Amino acid sequence: MTQDQLKQAVAQAALDMIQARLTKDTVLGIGTGSTANYFIDALAQYRFDFDGAVASSAATEARLKAAGIPVYDLNGVGTLPIYIDGADEANPHLHLIKGGGAALTREKIVAAASEEFICIADSSKQVDILGHFPLPIEVVPMARSYVARELVKLGADPVYREGVVTDNGNCILDAYHLDVLDPIAFEQRLNQIVGVVTNGLFAQRGADVLLIGHPDGVKTYYP
Ligand code: A5P
Repeated sequence: MTQDQLKQAVAQAALDMIQARLTKDTVLGIGTGSTANYFIDALAQYRFDFDGAVASSAATEARLKAAGIPVYDLNGVGTLPIYIDGADEANPHLHLIKGGGAALTREKIVAAASEEFICIADSSKQVDILGHFPLPIEVVPMARSYVARELVKLGADPVYREGVVTDNGNCILDAYHLDVLDPIAFEQRLNQIVGVVTNGLFAQRGADVLLIGHPDGVKTYYP
C-alpha cells in the first residue's frame, strides 16, 4: 500500500469509530493536513447526520465548506466531543509532534477544547522518541531571531521556514536535531520563551486514541 492509501484507510477507520456517536447536534473538531483531508472527504457523505465542524485552519475550513459541511467559530460552540487530526510523529505515550502544515496553534486550541482527540496517521509517523521530525514552533515575527538563539541554548538547530505565514500572521521556526526525552517538560520549557506563540509538541494534551494505518490493517493505540 502507498502512504496515501494508508492515510485513506486510517481516515475511514476513524469515521467508522465515530459514526454511531454522530447526532444532529454534534459539532466535530477537524484538523489539518492530508490525512485530515481524507477524513473530511469520507465525512462528507454523512453531512446530514451531524451539525457541523470547527476547523483548525483556513485550508480545512475551505475544504469543509466545499464538502457542504457547516463551519462554526469555536467561541460559539463550547466544548467539542471529538477532535480528529493527523500528526507528524507519535510516540507510544501518544505524545505528538504536529505543525508540519503550520496549523499547530489552532490545532492545539481545538484539541484543548475537545473531550477526545483521535489522532490518525500512517505507520511512518510512529517513533519511540520524538524529534526526528523537526519540531515546528510558531513565533511572533519580531521575536524570530531571539527565539532562535534561545532554542540553540536548548540544543536545537532552528531553521526559519521561509515564505510561510501562519493563519495567525506569525512565522515558523523548525527545530532540528532534537531527542525529546521528556515531551511534557520540554513543551512547558518552550512555552516559557518570550515570543513563542505555540510549539508543536502535543504532550500535555496528547492524543486520547491513536489510529495507525499499517500495511496489514489499521491498529488502535491508547496512552
Ligand atoms: C498540520 O499543521 C499538521 O499538524 C498535520 O496534522 C501534520 O503535519 C500531519 O499532516 P499529514 O496528515 O499531511 O501527514
